[in-house]
Amino acid sequence: MQLDRFLCKHADYSRKTVLQLLSQQQVKVDGQTIQHREFLVTQFSHIEVQGKTIQRHTARYYMLNKPAGFLSATTDPVHPTALTLLTGIDTSDLHIAGRLDRATTGLLILTNDGKWSRQLTEPKSVKAQKIPKVYFVETAYAISPTTAQRFAEGIYFKTEDTTTSPAQLEIICKKTSRLTIYEGRYHQVKRMFAAVGNRVVNLHREKMGKISLDPTLKLGEFRALTLNEIDWIL
Ligand code: URA
Repeated sequence: MQLDRFLCKHADYSRKTVLQLLSQQQVKVDGQTIQHREFLVTQFSHIEVQGKTIQRHTARYYMLNKPAGFLSATTDPVHPTALTLLTGIDTSDLHIAGRLDRATTGLLILTNDGKWSRQLTEPKSVKAQKIPKVYFVETAYAISPTTAQRFAEGIYFKTEDTTTSPAQLEIICKKTSRLTIYEGRYHQVKRMFAAVGNRVVNLHREKMGKISLDPTLKLGEFRALTLNEIDWIL
């Protein structure tokens, strides 16, 4: 948004006052005096007028090792949500980048940066379609030798009338495997295994793109993402 529009909208100044403040060098964006009314600001720009902060909004990114039993939602009347585990920080503007089912454990990413999270998870984003999501899977029955081939060819989902994009299955032992998918459809991993006559009994997300679940995080613990973990997506 243009700086003059932002100030009229958010700081309740008249347009005339905004132009005066700009020409009198009374407006700073991220510490720099700005006189240009068309200067572009974002939801994360730090904006000051006459020394008073009008917007202080920093982008924040976290990873949580989600335990079973917590919903990937910001609020819920019945079940505890993953956000309640982020104690000691302001969670009011956070959202989840790539949900997990209530019983699924592992890597959950939370942020207040919608543009960033859309690149990671938006189904239509070309970038998101290339981002591998890696799951450790335990199944009720031994994995049949044809499963990897079936997943690589794609599994047809009747509800959406679509075929999943090629996925890689690494069989670890009889009933455990590591599955890499490139989408995030509803119950995708469970439905893929159900389609080949198996059943997922434990599901744990290990990785999304270059962000791996920090092995030092116990279930229910979280930490801020590092700059490297944030920047690779840009
Ligand atoms: N696929 C599922 O079936 N469940 C999840 O939580 C994530 C992927």
